[in-house]
Formats: sequence, C-alpha cells, structure tokens
Amino acid sequence: MQSKTMSKEYWNNLYDKDEVGWDIGFPSPAIKEYIDQLTNKGISILIPGCGNAYEAEYLIAQGFTNVTVIDIAPSLTAALESKFKNENGKTIKIITDDFFNHNGAYNLIIEQTFLSALSPSVRPQYVDKMHSLLVKGGHLTGILFGRVFEEEGPPYGGTPQEYKQMFSKKFKIKKLEPCYNSIERRKGSEVFINLIAK
Ligand SMILES: C[S@@+](CC[C@H](N)C(=O)[O-])C[C@H]1O[C@@H](n2cnc3c(N)ncnc32)[C@H](O)[C@@H]1O
Repeated sequence: MQSKTMSKEYWNNLYDKDEVGWDIGFPSPAIKEYIDQLTNKGISILIPGCGNAYEAEYLIAQGFTNVTVIDIAPSLTAALESKFKNENGKTIKIITDDFFNHNGAYNLIIEQTFLSALSPSVRPQYVDKMHSLLVKGGHLTGILFGRVFEEEGPPYGGTPQEYKQMFSKKFKIKKLEPCYNSIERRKGSEVFINLIAK
C-alpha cells in the first residue's frame, strides 16, 4: 500500500542527503526515564518511524529481548541492519515498510517524532492503527510536539487538547502532560504521553 502521507521517496531522499534535522543523536531522556522503570524485559516493543533507533539501542543495552523497529525509508533500514548486525533477529527485528501496513500485538509502542512526520489528515487512522497494534492494556508512550508550527510540515505539531480528544476514544489517558525533561532545544514544546489501549 502507498503511504498515506509523505512518500517513501521523500524520507529516503532525506536520509540519502543526510538532512535529518530531527535526529537528536541519542535516546530522548524522557523515554529513557520511562524505559528505566520497566521491569519485564521480555515485553514486546514496537518503535514506528524509528529513524536511527537510539531508543532501540538503549532498550537492547538494558537487556530487553523483543524489540521491533519499522521505518519506511530503505536507506535508513539498510544502515540499521548494519548497525544491529550482531543483534538483528535475536533481540531486534528491523522492518522496512509503511507503518500503516504493519500488523502485530505489542505490549508497548514508543512514539518519538513519528506522529509529527505524518499529515494531520491521517491522525484518526494513526490512532486506530496504534490501538490495533497493541494488546488490550498495552501502552503507547513517548513524546509529541505540544505546539503548532507556522510553516507547512513536517513537522506537524498539535495541542494537548487536540491530542486528548483524538486519543480518548481508544485509549485511557494515564499521562498527557508537558514534558519536564525535554532536551534543551525542545524545552517547553513537548508533551509526554502514556496511553493505555482500551
Ligand atoms: C521525523 S523522523 C523521526 C525519526 C526518529 N523517530 C527520531 O526521532 O529520530 C520520522 C521517521 O518516520 C519515518 N516514516 C515516515 N512515514 C512513515 C510511515 N508511513 N511508516 C513508517 N515510517 C515512516 C521516516 O522515514 C523517518 O525515519
């Protein structure tokens, strides 16, 4: 299926040209802190639109054994195959595909600058897909931009009110609040979410 938003070529081209302004180069502190309080290292975890997958790297370093990453850009996933060559197929599975084509039943999905890569017109489908990829009681956790951007995206932002409304039909909102441990350049512009699939 064709991507419902920016094309595979669009993203792949950005990786080919190394124009990855979103890439912070390390796992997001807020997500790291969330990971650090997880005790069951065997839970199944998905990271969609994973980019350079620093969070996946961190999970593996902490002993998590069932991590799946998916990204639409083949140049990026080829680089990930090489980065994780000793782990791939053991603790991490790398998938090159459109997130909207993916099926599964995960305990946890980590969101990091993925929603902001998708056109706001597909947000209802994003919520449905996230919900369908989680077991009942599974968590969608991570960071969203809590501000609106002036220019046409990506990134596409949003407001906490808008996010509450869009998620509340399918998710119990455990946390949706300003992120207190954002990296310096994103301070005040992020929302931390911990949502539980109904
Ligand atoms: C803004 S980047 C964020 C990457 C990474 N999460 C990070 O924070 O560094 C968005 C990522 O989503 C991927 N992407 C965009 N649309 C996608 C889709 N429909 N399915 C899977 N991946 C997609 C892009 O290739 C890109 O790697």
